[in-house]
Amino acid sequence: MTSVRITALLILVIVGLASSDYVPSKYPGLTLAQARCPEEPWDPYWWFIAEHDKIPLCFGRYPLPSKLNSAEDLATACRKKHKDAEPVEAIADKYYAWFRDFEIFGLIGKNGSLYYMNEYGNTRVTLPIEASNYYVVCVTQAYPRVLSSYNLPIEPTPNLSLYTCEGNGWEMLAPCGGTPFCYKLAALYASSPYTESKEFNLCGVILPNSFPVSLHCEAEANYALWQTKYPIHFGYQLPRLSLWNKFDSWHNVDGTPADYAPWTDPEPNNYEGHHESFGISDDHVFRDISLYEWYKNFVYTLCKKPGVY
Ligand SMILES: *[C@@H]1O[C@H](CO)[C@@H](O)[C@H](O)[C@H]1NC(C)=O
Ligand SMILES: *[C@@H]1O[C@H](CO)[C@@H](O)[C@H](O)[C@H]1NC(C)=O
Repeated sequence: MTSVRITALLILVIVGLASSDYVPSKYPGLTLAQARCPEEPWDPYWWFIAEHDKIPLCFGRYPLPSKLNSAEDLATACRKKHKDAEPVEAIADKYYAWFRDFEIFGLIGKNGSLYYMNEYGNTRVTLPIEASNYYVVCVTQAYPRVLSSYNLPIEPTPNLSLYTCEGNGWEMLAPCGGTPFCYKLAALYASSPYTESKEFNLCGVILPNSFPVSLHCEAEANYALWQTKYPIHFGYQLPRLSLWNKFDSWHNVDGTPADYAPWTDPEPNNYEGHHESFGISDDHVFRDISLYEWYKNFVYTLCKKPGVY
């Protein structure tokens, strides 16, 4: 989970972050929740995703050669990070705190107006310079989390009365079209002991054949986020020991494609290093939280299973 301070800053950053070179989008209509960055296993400098002019963009840093002669060296370094990445050209002063929180420091700009951005602000740089231990801050367009889910025609909603939900208290919906699913809010009492075996399928333990809810479209997310004003645990999770800031790490525990993650900006953020590995609804927005924190404080899980024909 994040602090209010970080959230407030990000709302500002989206307005003026990148140059307008990023229109048109390569993936028209791609939303932030459906988008991811092109990470490579060998690249330890992770990407942060944010939306600019309704286009999801990826920001990340990359190390520079020890001797920096021209702005073209910055562009070359960004292309090593990703073939379509370019140096970020300008970032307004008011956005620095956000980059600082995510430790994305480095050179920005182009020859003639090149800056070194660090945690204290901007310093003008004139080339050539010795650039050992320096980074360039790069930007590129995001792409679909799951290519086969991008721009899929919406399947028609079936006749729901032909399906049933086994057991009591389930609500049947087909929020993303296609096969209907059954949803039920389960209360898991904080007084019952925490065990790691509950980490992956809290629902299956008490409601057979169900899993903590996976999300695949905006209508399903809206439904799930508004089931109660209390926090709800979702099935979008980080398997143990995987890195929270890699898009590839996060999975749906029901095994469905991880094609939709409606994080509220700038989540996930592994707040204060608390091993936050769970998607939860908190105040009707989607955040990451640690299992232990969730279990200590909150008691709801939204369970989901397919409707039976
Ligand atoms: C970069 O800009 C400086 C002055 O701002 C100029 O002297 C130099 O030739 C430029 N280098 C390139 C590669 O354009
Ligand atoms: C849905 O299925 C029920 C039960 O077979 C049927 O009575 C009803 O007419 C169907 N509705 C539609 C819109 O097809």
